Amino acid sequence: MDSQTQMKQIVADAAIQEVKSDMILGLGSGSTAALMIKSLAEEIRSGKLKNIRGVATSFQSEVLALELDIPLIDLASVSQIDLAIDGADEVDPGFQLIKGGGACHVREKLVASKADEFLIVIDETKLVQKLNKSFPLPVEVLPNSWKLVQDVISEMNGSSHLRMATKKAGPIVTDQGNLILDVLFNDGINNPKDVEMSINNIPGVLENGLFVDITDKVLVGKIENNIPVVYSPSKVG
Ligand code: 5RP
Repeated sequence: MDSQTQMKQIVADAAIQEVKSDMILGLGSGSTAALMIKSLAEEIRSGKLKNIRGVATSFQSEVLALELDIPLIDLASVSQIDLAIDGADEVDPGFQLIKGGGACHVREKLVASKADEFLIVIDETKLVQKLNKSFPLPVEVLPNSWKLVQDVISEMNGSSHLRMATKKAGPIVTDQGNLILDVLFNDGINNPKDVEMSINNIPGVLENGLFVDITDKVLVGKIENNIPVVYSPSKVG
């Protein structure tokens, strides 16, 4: 196992310690969340956790949960989620996030917004001082509006490109049947709340990957003296 996977595994296992029987649990997307879902399945199988119901944030997490016999309920049928656990692409010192590296941020944000507690699990490569200096901000757009949105974003000093698929000609298509623009601003993102709102205001945009003032706790996996360890940083500001 490479060192980044070791960091992801230890943080995924640590997150499951926060889960209690009878919880409705938001199941995040991406490789760290997938490890968390596998650890959860182990705990359910061993009988340590009982009566867990998961709410999937993507087709990926839905398929994985079904394969691992984790009971699922539909987002539309829950009014409240006890705990949502998810990965992130960038986390700043104030716990503002960029998500959507796996193009799942629309449902991830819906699930997070319904959760009493939103727990982020990352390896330490995801910690940044300022968002969007290197990781592009994913923006989900309706298929016929991508050029229009791209032009407006360029007026906001953002450069963007349509995310292309691998092993399929053309762009990637999200779980909702839309496209993704990946956006880099000239000097990163200074005010995540303003940027989140301004981008979502552009006609044709469904949702962007900025998660602002929604994260309660972050667990970080790192390697110390060749041993994977977990810590929980304090929020700054
Ligand atoms: C998917 C996400 C993921 O949580 C994010 O991309 C992190 O993924 P990984 O754990 O594979 O690094 O937001 O839309």
